[in-house]
Amino acid sequence: MNVASKLPKDIRGENYTGAATCVKCHSDISQNYSHSTHGLTSKPVVDEDLLKVFDSDSNSFSFNKHQKVKIEKSDKGIFQVAYNDGLKVKAERFDIAFGSGEKAFTYGYWKGKKLYELPLSYFSSINNWANSPGFPKNAVYYNRLITSRCFECHGSYIEKKLTQKSTFSTDEELEKGSVIYGIDCERCHGPGKEHVVFHMENPEEKTAKFITLFKNLSRKQRMDACGVCHSGNTLTSLKSVFKFKLGDDLASYYQQDFVGFGGGTPDVHGNQTTLLTGSNCYMKSENMTCQSCHNTHESIKGNMAVYSQRCISCHKTTNHSKITLAKGSVSINCIDCHMPKESSKLISFQQAGNDYLSPYLLRSHHIAIYSDQVNKNALH
Ligand code: HEC
Ligand code: HEC
Ligand code: HEC
Ligand code: HEC
Ligand code: HEC
Ligand code: HEC
Ligand code: HEC
Repeated sequence: MNVASKLPKDIRGENYTGAATCVKCHSDISQNYSHSTHGLTSKPVVDEDLLKVFDSDSNSFSFNKHQKVKIEKSDKGIFQVAYNDGLKVKAERFDIAFGSGEKAFTYGYWKGKKLYELPLSYFSSINNWANSPGFPKNAVYYNRLITSRCFECHGSYIEKKLTQKSTFSTDEELEKGSVIYGIDCERCHGPGKEHVVFHMENPEEKTAKFITLFKNLSRKQRMDACGVCHSGNTLTSLKSVFKFKLGDDLASYYQQDFVGFGGGTPDVHGNQTTLLTGSNCYMKSENMTCQSCHNTHESIKGNMAVYSQRCISCHKTTNHSKITLAKGSVSINCIDCHMPKESSKLISFQQAGNDYLSPYLLRSHHIAIYSDQVNKNALH
């Protein structure tokens, strides 16, 4: 029997074979990947996992004097249950989790071929539930659709059917059983079956065949490989980006003006590409890409000393004033001064009994001199 026919089938097409096949020859990468935020960014809800964050002291959220949502477990699963003056008015189950939980989890529930967002999301910065981002304040809401677009950045595949409802609106139906959760190997590298078959048949061959070689890519291709999901989510898609792979040109997936779109300031949430490419580090160097600081398969999250080494690799010497130097840590932590955390303008969240919106903080990828940041750091 030939090798190809023994490989697992994959719903994306016959050139794909699924991440389980890659493990055989790339076990180190697969190990790291299984814990990575990319790999974990969407998954079906497993009750035991949810119970780890499910804390009986903080399992309810009051919208106002009359309305609240409680998280409740029954033998059919875990539900977000809405109450109006103590009367149960709606109950929907946690079906899918979006987000690795690094910063947040948002949940979806299925109704036929539609997926809707649950009213409460979990935010790691407060270790608690809050009103889902962008949801109406002061009222329980269960009707926000989760579209295939969320899966395009947070997953590897979902089958959809579009029907034209009127001249201006289309209706999207999603196939529950078709989802490939998480961002998998072939989501970034493209279909890998031919590569696998070749290397299984030629175990003595140590150079990669039938897969895009990263070292051959131009700077733009490298930026596009991340930009497909990290250029903000206000872009107009020309076609589904599920097929986008390393080496492709983003211009054939998003409307041409995608680099400078919108005119407004790009947000720290989701738009690292625009912020970075507007920095002098990027514009005045030949070769800065996301890989200058991030190794896609290995997270160095929180390790400012290692990140700072990446800065120092280009900035062997710096001209800081005496005042700046006196503020300390200039040689150890470049990040807090030059890539400060900023609140997203797109995402913020409302905590129970609070009108005030809590900030959602992200690193700014606009590397620059922030004089106010110096003063802030000096306070510590
Ligand atoms: C039968 C063994 C085998 C399997 C299975 C396999 N590969 Fe490979 N792969 C190799 C070999 C050999 C190389 C070349 C040496 C190296 O870079 O590790 C390679 C290299 C690569 C590279 C590096 C390309 C570059 O830029 O240098 C990528 C990407 C890759 N494989 C992706 C995949 C993906 C995705 C899968 C699963 C669909 C997969 N491989 C499954 C053997 C395999
Ligand atoms: C988010 C996109 C993404 C995902 C998901 C991803 N890769 Fe990669 N991979 C890259 C990029 C970009 C590179 C090139 C350099 C780098 O950042 O490491 C790369 C490099 C590689 C290499 C060659 C360099 C090395 O580190 O040995 C192999 C082999 C590889 N990937 C295999 C895999 C396998 C197997 C999986 C799934 C377990 C996977 N990749 C998942 C983006 C991705
Ligand atoms: C298919 C969409 C997609 C692609 C392609 C992609 N990312 Fe991501 N990336 C995401 C999503 C979604 C998250 C949020 C994951 C989470 O925490 O749920 C993320 C998170 C991250 C993080 C923060 C978490 C961490 O591991 O520290 C970094 C850094 C990152 N991506 C870098 C990259 C780089 C570099 C590339 C290009 C090689 C890339 N990404 C390609 C979608 C993508
Ligand atoms: C264009 C790509 C894109 C689209 C579309 C998108 N996201 Fe994201 N999302 C990201 C990226 C990138 C991150 C992580 C980094 C950041 O916040 O900048 C993220 C972060 C998140 C997080 C927090 C993950 C964590 O723990 O850090 C959640 C939850 C989330 N998205 C849910 C959704 C949902 C639900 C939708 C659809 C309504 C959606 N996203 C649409 C790219 C996207
Ligand atoms: C790939 C090389 C490279 C890397 C990596 C790099 N930079 Fe730069 N950076 C440059 C270049 C080139 C300039 C422009 C210098 C000039 O104008 O002469 C620059 C300029 C700057 C400036 C001046 C900004 C301005 O707007 O005038 C600051 C501050 C800076 N970098 C900080 C950093 C920090 C902090 C890091 C790490 C997070 C970093 N850089 C990583 C190449 C790099
Ligand atoms: C000059 C270094 C540098 C470059 C280049 C760079 N990043 Fe980052 N990135 C960082 C640092 C530092 C952090 C903060 C890490 C932490 O807090 O642990 C970060 C965090 C992130 C996060 C997590 C969001 C957050 O705020 O916690 C994402 C997503 C990300 N980067 C994506 C990208 C993408 C996509 C590119 C290319 C467009 C890129 N980065 C280029 C240094 C860099
Ligand atoms: C305490 C905050 C702070 C820290 C930490 C810090 N910087 Fe700066 N940086 C500044 C300020 C402020 C300026 C503007 C000049 C001045 O007032 O010192 C500056 C200027 C710069 C410049 C432009 C001037 C020049 O040297 O060409 C570069 C490049 C730079 N910093 C890189 C770095 C790198 C790399 C690190 C880490 C090794 C770092 N900085 C750490 C605050 C800081």
